Amino acid sequence: MWGICRRTMVKVGMPKPCCLMKPCHLVKPVSVTRVSGRYLTHQRGLPGLPVPPLQQTCERYISALEPIVEAEELRHAKELVAEFQKAGGVGERLQRGLEARARSTENWLSEWWVQVAYLDYRLPVVVHSSPGLVLPRMNFSDKQGQIRFAAKLIAGVLDFKMMIDNETLPVEHMGGKPLCMNQYYEVLSSCRVPGLKRDSVVNHAKTSSPPRHIAVVHNLQFYALEVYHSDGRPLTADEFCVQLEKICRSSPHSDVEPVGILTTQHRDAWGRAYATLTQDETNRESVSVIQRSIFTLCLDGAAPPVADEGYRSSAAVQMLHGGGSRWNSANRWFDKTLQFIVGVDGTCGANYEHAPAEGPPIVALIDHVVEYTRKPETTPSPMMPLATPQKLLFNITPEIKKDIEKAQHAMNTLAQDLEMRVMVFGHFGKNVPKTHKMSPDAFIQMALQLAYYRMYQRCCATYESASQRAFRLGRTETIRSASSASAAFVKAFDDPGTQNTEKVDLLVKAVNAHRSYTTMAISGQAIDRHLLGLKMVAVEAELLIPDIYTDSTYAKALHYNLSTSQVPSKTDCVMCFGPIVPDGYGVCYNPMDDHINFAVSSFNACKDTDAARLARSVEEALLDMRTLLDQSPRAKL
Ligand code: COA
Repeated sequence: MWGICRRTMVKVGMPKPCCLMKPCHLVKPVSVTRVSGRYLTHQRGLPGLPVPPLQQTCERYISALEPIVEAEELRHAKELVAEFQKAGGVGERLQRGLEARARSTENWLSEWWVQVAYLDYRLPVVVHSSPGLVLPRMNFSDKQGQIRFAAKLIAGVLDFKMMIDNETLPVEHMGGKPLCMNQYYEVLSSCRVPGLKRDSVVNHAKTSSPPRHIAVVHNLQFYALEVYHSDGRPLTADEFCVQLEKICRSSPHSDVEPVGILTTQHRDAWGRAYATLTQDETNRESVSVIQRSIFTLCLDGAAPPVADEGYRSSAAVQMLHGGGSRWNSANRWFDKTLQFIVGVDGTCGANYEHAPAEGPPIVALIDHVVEYTRKPETTPSPMMPLATPQKLLFNITPEIKKDIEKAQHAMNTLAQDLEMRVMVFGHFGKNVPKTHKMSPDAFIQMALQLAYYRMYQRCCATYESASQRAFRLGRTETIRSASSASAAFVKAFDDPGTQNTEKVDLLVKAVNAHRSYTTMAISGQAIDRHLLGLKMVAVEAELLIPDIYTDSTYAKALHYNLSTSQVPSKTDCVMCFGPIVPDGYGVCYNPMDDHINFAVSSFNACKDTDAARLARSVEEALLDMRTLLDQSPRAKL
């Protein structure tokens, strides 16, 4: 989205963006190696990200354009590509530069990626970059329950952290291949820091004195809560309960200045406001305590009341942006890599800042935490006297107050603009495509293609994130779900002149084309990151940006009206994010065995998009595709 990359990566290839047109003096965004044992041995054994052959990428780029551009645009793009890749041309020179970089770095892309896709991206992280994650409603509905649950949640995160600290986290695999585990080491104790033109990410786990506290925010007031005893043992859930009660008692609802809202701003505005805020020593220290915390826990106040059927959508809004300044948007520090959010009514989930990691490691952590919170409570242990959590103070000058007001206004406009629809598709899950010997992910993607085509009578550039964690420090690649095969399928589906057997044949071809693009993407042979890499070589060498990048066709290829991502989970949760273009949709889904959770978003300012309508269209497409398969001879194989 996630990755995602999703939203930001999209900007990466656009002709305009800032840093791509000028030399890029990269700060090291996230540290990339650890120095000790088991983890390092594992990481060293992973292959490096390959640089695909130039000609292969050029051919695949043209194929990717076919379903989404006009014939004349395609003809022009072919000419530009031919010029780009000709013997002795600029493409070959850039390719050699990229290959040289691949030989001298752990991963030729990773630093560029974090910088360009995230830290140079200046729209607010809220909605535009940071995903939310909604868990099923938990079994509590009052303050006591909220505190009890939050206390177990903290203990669960620390239980997971122990595996990170001890390097005992089991290595994950995909298709039998071991995956890069680096992202797990980047999500705790880290924080994004706004800059005037460019942000950075600081990971405090790797300092000589790693943090021993979390940040808790309640009624917009921030606290530092020590989570370890002096002997290194984590506090128990009962002890956390006592500490959280102290925090809640000492932070009644009152007219405090909502400092947290500043983190929802456009990054340039926040960069300036941050410089003003941190001129004051007390403010500087309070901000630093939040940044250095292991994670943030947001104990939320009330959310707008909704009927049961709207509950998940409303919870997704709380996780994604907090509902606006009247609700919980200021009860956050959106720069923090990981924020757990617990409401009073059983609502619970998370928001994460995307620069250091993709959704899957975050979800794995959260799956562990949810399982932990379900374990029966152990008998209470004798409690040690515990220090009172430290309240973080802020001195608010008139200038800072003005920044806060501006941030509130912008956040409320954004909240009004975002439409979020969570749909639990309950008719089937991965089981049905599997029965028909099809990849469930490809099946869902084809349903999205069909749903979109039915609404707009055209195909659009579609982004799906694929993991590149089979490579050292790998992040994501784009699966371009709109293909010539998918276009043929969606155009035939509602055509009364096409026989069902032919439609099934087209569906099978479209699913297979998607699956083979997925294989290309996860094995480092797809086109988008390679094209970006070549462009970055030109940028760093201060060469003219080749015409293929400034051509409107390239911009069209990167204008992802559908930005999608599968984030599977053991828990019945769903991740959510905003669209990456003003006239687009964000679609995240979690396919379970017998149902699929979807979170669909759009912007109300665009009169052509409607998240609820797309969700309904996806539901119909999935059902119609199943009916087609059930009625066809192939389905009975
Ligand atoms: N017949 C029967 N079963 C099949 C099948 C077929 N033809 N093809 C696949 N399956 C099965 C798989 O074995 C798998 O089984 P499981 O449920 O027992 O694990 C299941 O169907 C799912 O496979 P599929 O739907 O093909 O998807 P995938 O798990 O390979 O995932 C991606 C595809 C692209 C989502 C994945 O490769 C990926 O990259 N994920 C990371 C995305 C990411 O980073 N997102 C975060 C962004 S913030």
